[in-house]
Amino acid sequence: DILPEIVEPLLTWYRGQSTLRCLPWREEVTPYHTWISEIMLQQTRASAVIPYYTRFLEVLPDIASLARCDDELLMKLWQGLGYYSRARNLKKAACQIVEDFGGQMPADFAALLALPGIGRYTASAIGSIAFGLPLPAVDGNILRVTMRVLQCGEDIAQLSVRRAVEDALAPHYPSGEDAGALNQAFMDLGATVCLPHGAPHCALCPLGRLCLAYAAGSAEQLPIKVKK
Ligand code: ADE
Repeated sequence: DILPEIVEPLLTWYRGQSTLRCLPWREEVTPYHTWISEIMLQQTRASAVIPYYTRFLEVLPDIASLARCDDELLMKLWQGLGYYSRARNLKKAACQIVEDFGGQMPADFAALLALPGIGRYTASAIGSIAFGLPLPAVDGNILRVTMRVLQCGEDIAQLSVRRAVEDALAPHYPSGEDAGALNQAFMDLGATVCLPHGAPHCALCPLGRLCLAYAAGSAEQLPIKVKK
């Protein structure tokens, strides 16, 4: 079984990538910071998010200020990021957190998932990064890396395949700081080494020794994603 073997190399690689880790949401890690960054990063590249993220937190530094901000200000802070429902859901969720959880982000997957704008990926990202919960945050990066390592040709557009990847990875997740580090290692590996288009940089990959697709020369053909 390969999956238990990928955790240590990924964490070691991530710890060595000091420039990649220079992102503002990796510096001051609080549940609120993690939440705001993950929502902004859902549809927007990290380099474009940074100035919005910084300004948003200057003006609305905590959940209470977000819950009571006026909509005009909220829209002004989001102007240019697009997908404005993300901002409206943020405020809605902040109000719920104030009402139901005394203004503290819940440290619980199901409670996070129940908030507006938070799906399985985001609940797992917040849970792992901010609370150290052992939850794989399954996005395109983690899917691509996993399907290549396992040389699995199943269709990643299928929800059942995403859930199977989640279930296969979850038992190998560490708790504490390494949980968030592991998810962010997958994200960074997917963004810089295990690339979706063109040739992945397999010679530089910390998982090269273990990767079945690399051994078979099939990394570029994976993953399979059938358009609906
Ligand atoms: N994209 C989504 N979440 C991210 C994170 N925590 N760091 C870098 N890129 C991301």
